[in-house]
Amino acid sequence: MAKDGHKAFEQALLKRAETVAAVLRRLLDERPLAGEIARPQRLAAAMRHGVLNGGKRLRPFLVMESAALFEADGEAAARVAAALECVHCYSLIHDDLPAMDDDDLRRGQPTVHRAYDEATAILAGDALLTLAFDALADEATLLPAERRAALVVALARAAGIGGMAGGQMLDLQAAHERPNEAGIIRLQAMKTGALIRFACEAGAIVAGAPAADRERLGEFGSAIGLAFQLADDLLDLTSDVGTLGKATGKDAAAGKATLAALHGQEWARRQLDGLVAQARALLEPYGERGAMLANAAAFVASRSN
Ligand code: IPE
Ligand code: IPE
Ligand code: MG
Ligand code: MG
Ligand code: MG
Repeated sequence: MAKDGHKAFEQALLKRAETVAAVLRRLLDERPLAGEIARPQRLAAAMRHGVLNGGKRLRPFLVMESAALFEADGEAAARVAAALECVHCYSLIHDDLPAMDDDDLRRGQPTVHRAYDEATAILAGDALLTLAFDALADEATLLPAERRAALVVALARAAGIGGMAGGQMLDLQAAHERPNEAGIIRLQAMKTGALIRFACEAGAIVAGAPAADRERLGEFGSAIGLAFQLADDLLDLTSDVGTLGKATGKDAAAGKATLAALHGQEWARRQLDGLVAQARALLEPYGERGAMLANAAAFVASRSN
């Protein structure tokens, strides 16, 4: 990406992050919603710790930009973006638990189980996952009911047994089962790719775009989702805790199956370039309107944190 493209992208990412943070703060308010009995202060605080802590908000960005591609309602897109970020943050809180990756640092701060305790971290994840579906289905998300239902189904499929959670299972098994390249690609498409694919598809759903566009955006999301995890694995090998805000060198230590470990860093970087080119080619029908998503694809590959 040209230098000015990079800068414009980073500014746009920050701006979208502010928008989604405002929605997240509202969703995580301590006041109970209609039908809720009470929101325990400690649980609300742990959820806020896991969410309002400076993530890049890439998935929300993708939701809002893919919605903007079809001139969808920005407010509805921001709520869908916030719902997805709740699922993503829940996945990180649980990923960091001692039973999983056992990490102490996330986004430069103590992980939720470190700042609170394991039981509270498990519950914070549970409650964030549930809150996400509340936010999607709620009439406050100003979309026709069929679109809200389509979003609920698509997010459930992306997050559940056939998506992120299933991928996390395969990731744990991979430490002793040594999958081949196709096996690694599948586990990564599930653990990381599925939510990123949903992010891109969601914009088309919010907009009520034709099925062909939804499919195209989904394919774009799959390509950058794979690129994203490839970059994450490279950063685990080459970066440092200060830059990344999370521990490094963890994958090799845990015997995690990654493509970079299987084929080497050089290969991984070439693969990354290929995925970005493939993703950008999918945006061609949208011309200039696709520029911001094209920049996002480049960012995914070249990111430093
Ligand atoms: C980290 O995701 C977890 C993976 C899926 C590799 P991000 O790198 O998007 O994390 P935040 O949200 O910016 O902290
Ligand atoms: C995490 O993958 C994927 C999910 C949380 C679903 P990693 O375990 O590689 O993520 P980091 O490196 O801890 O962010
Ligand atoms: Mg993990
Ligand atoms: Mg991890
Ligand atoms: Mg990682």
